[in-house]
Amino acid sequence: MTSNIPLEIEKKAAALRKELNQHNHRYFVLDDPVISDAEYDRMMAELIRLESEWPGLYSLDSPSARVGSTPLEKFEPALHALLMLSLDKGFSKEDLIAFDQRIKRALKDDRQIIYTAEPKIDGLAVELVYINGRLQTASTRGDGRTGENITQNVRTIPQVPLVLPGKISGEVPEILEVRGEIYMDTPDFAKLNAARAASGEPLFANPRNAAAGSLRQLDSRITASRPLKLFVYAAGRVSGRNFAQHSAFLSWIRDLGFPVNPLIRTKISLDEAVAFYEELDLLRDTLPYEIDGMVVKVDDLDLQNRLGNTARSPRWAIALKFAAIRARTRVVDIVVGVGRTGALTPVACLEPVNVGGVNVARATLHNEDEMARKDVRIGDHVFVQRAGDVIPEVVKVILSERSGSEQPFVMPMACPSCGGGVVRIVGESATRCLNSACPAQVKANILHFASKGAFDIDGLGKKLVEQLVDTGLVSSYADIFVLKPEVLEDIDRMGIKSAANLVAAIESSKKISFSRFLYALGIRHVGEHVAGVLAGYFKTVEKIIDVSTDASYEEIKSIPGIGPEIAASVISFFKNPENRETIRLLFERGVAVEPETVRTAGPSPVLNNTFVLTGRLSTMTRGEAKKMIEAAGGKVAGSVSSKTDFLVCGTEPGSKLEKARSLDVKILDENKFREIVSGETGDE
Ligand code: IVH
Repeated sequence: MTSNIPLEIEKKAAALRKELNQHNHRYFVLDDPVISDAEYDRMMAELIRLESEWPGLYSLDSPSARVGSTPLEKFEPALHALLMLSLDKGFSKEDLIAFDQRIKRALKDDRQIIYTAEPKIDGLAVELVYINGRLQTASTRGDGRTGENITQNVRTIPQVPLVLPGKISGEVPEILEVRGEIYMDTPDFAKLNAARAASGEPLFANPRNAAAGSLRQLDSRITASRPLKLFVYAAGRVSGRNFAQHSAFLSWIRDLGFPVNPLIRTKISLDEAVAFYEELDLLRDTLPYEIDGMVVKVDDLDLQNRLGNTARSPRWAIALKFAAIRARTRVVDIVVGVGRTGALTPVACLEPVNVGGVNVARATLHNEDEMARKDVRIGDHVFVQRAGDVIPEVVKVILSERSGSEQPFVMPMACPSCGGGVVRIVGESATRCLNSACPAQVKANILHFASKGAFDIDGLGKKLVEQLVDTGLVSSYADIFVLKPEVLEDIDRMGIKSAANLVAAIESSKKISFSRFLYALGIRHVGEHVAGVLAGYFKTVEKIIDVSTDASYEEIKSIPGIGPEIAASVISFFKNPENRETIRLLFERGVAVEPETVRTAGPSPVLNNTFVLTGRLSTMTRGEAKKMIEAAGGKVAGSVSSKTDFLVCGTEPGSKLEKARSLDVKILDENKFREIVSGETGDE
C-alpha cells in the first residue's frame, strides 16, 4: 500500500509525527511546551489531512490516533510475562523500621540498606509492552498473571509514548515492559464531574474511580475525552539491559520519555525514608493528584533478587499507607450539636461516603475557629478523614470545586436546643450554652451516665432518653432511679416486657464501683482513666465529695497523672450545690458505691512506662496506638529492650515478640491494651 505514496509525502508525514511526538512529550510529560497550542493544532491538522488523503500512511502509532477508534465487543485477556505482584502494607514509621529489620535479618547482614521511596499514586496499575520501540500491548493488572487488554484506550493517553525515541539508533530494547499507574488529576476530576452533573450523568466517587471507569470503556473515543495521566514506577522484562539499581532504571526510563514522579527520592537511608513518609503525609493535600501512601523499595537489584518474593508480594518493597483514611464528599448542611458540657459543635452533614469500610454521613467541624480556618461552607466538596475510633472530621475544602453558590455558616447566637444565650469565654475555643437545664445537655449527660463504662444500663438508648426528657419524666440522671414500669409503658412503642426489662436493668446497675460512679457523673476532663486514678487515690466516695477547699485543689493536683485543669474541674463540680443535691438523690434512691477493687493500684499502668508495638492492630493504626500511649503519659520505643515495660502485640507479630518473651516483658493483646489506655481523653 505504502508503495504508491510519494516519498516526499511519506517523509513529510514522518517528520510531522516525530515533531508532534516531541511536542507532545514536552507538553504532557515535561510540562514545558515550546510551541503554542495553535501551532500544535496546525501541525496535527496537517498530519490528519495527509493521512486522510493517503490512507496508506495511517498507523496506530501516529499521534493522530490518540482520538480513539472503533468500539470493542469486549476486552481480551492479556498475559503478563512476569507476574504483576502487589505490595505488602504497613501503616506507620514503626512498620517501616520493622521492614528494614526484616530485610537485614533475611540478608544476614546488618549494613545500612539503600532505598528508593516513591509516592503511592492512587490510580490503576497497568503494564505497557513495547516491541522494538512500539507500543504493542497495554493491560490491567487483573489477577497478576492475566489482565485485560486495554491497548486501544491506553493509546489515547497523551503521556503514553506510542513510539520510543532512539529506535532508529538501536538504543531501544527489543522487548521493554514498563509498569505504572494511570490516574486522574484532582482538578481534572472536578471538571469532569461538574460536566457530568450538568448533563445529568452519574458522578464518579473519586479520581481513582474516574480513572478506572475511563480506562474500562469499550469505546476508546470516550477514554480519549478523559484527562488521564501516567506515572511509571517499575520494570517488567527489559531485554539486553541489566540495571544495577532501581533508581538507575527510573532515570533511564525517564530519559526515554516516560513520566516518572518528580517527588521520588532515590538512594536514601531508612531515616530519610521515615522523614519522607512524614513529609509526604503533610504534602499530600497540596498535590494535584491523590496519593494514599508511600512505596519504599530496596534500590539494589542484586539485593532485590536475593530477597525474592512471597506468593503475593516482593520482600524488598513495602507500601506504607497514611494512618488516616480519607474520602471526598460534599457538605449538604451544617448543623450545631450541643454536648454534655454545653459546648456547641458545628457538624457537617455529608452526602454519605464510605471511608475505609465505614459509612460516614456526619463529620465534626470542631468549633468556630476551626471552621473559619478551613473555610467550610454548605455545598463545598471536602475531604473527610477517619482515624480508628475517632469521630470523622472534615480535613479540607477542595477549593477547585467551588462554584460560587456555597453558603458560609455562622455560629448561632442562641443555643439551638434551649434557645438560651451562648457565650464564648476568652481563651476557649468552644462556644457554650450556659443553661445547665438545657435539654440537649441533660440528654447527653443521661446518655453518658447510662453508657457502658458508667452505669451500663441496657436499653436506655438515645431515642428513649430523648423521649424521657422531652416528656419531662426525667430531668437529671437521678430521676432514672424512680422510673416505674407503668409510666414507661405509656411511652411510645415501649411494651410491657421491655419496660420491665429496663426497670430491672436500672435496678441491677445500682451497685457500682467507685471509678465507674465517678466517670458517670460527667465531670469535665474526667474520662474513664482519670476516674480510675482518682478512685484509686481517694478510695471512698465520701472523701472525694468533700473536696472543696484550696488545700484539696493542691492535693488533687499532686496526684500523678492529674493536672491543674482536672483538679479545678473536680473541685468546682463537687462545690456546685446542684451537683451535690443530685448525688444525694442518687444515694437516697438506692445507688451503692462499692470500694474500688480493680484500680486500687493507683495511676494507670501507662504512665511513665515504655511500650513497643508489633504486628497489625485491627481497631486502630499503630500511629493511633502511639498517640493514645503518649496521651496517657507513656512512651513508645521502636525495639524491645530490658527497658521495655509492655509489648503490644497485634496479628502477624514480628521478631519483637520472641525478644519480649526472652526478656520476660509483659505482653498485651489488642483488647487488653485497649482496656489499659481507654477513657484517656476525658471530656472535651
Ligand atoms: S510498585 C512489585 N510503586 O500500589 C511492585 N506500586 O499493591 C509493584 N502503586 O498494584 C508495585 N504507586 O497499583 C509501586 N510508586 C509505586 C506505586 C505503586 C502506586 C500501586 C500499584 C500496585 C499497588 C500496590
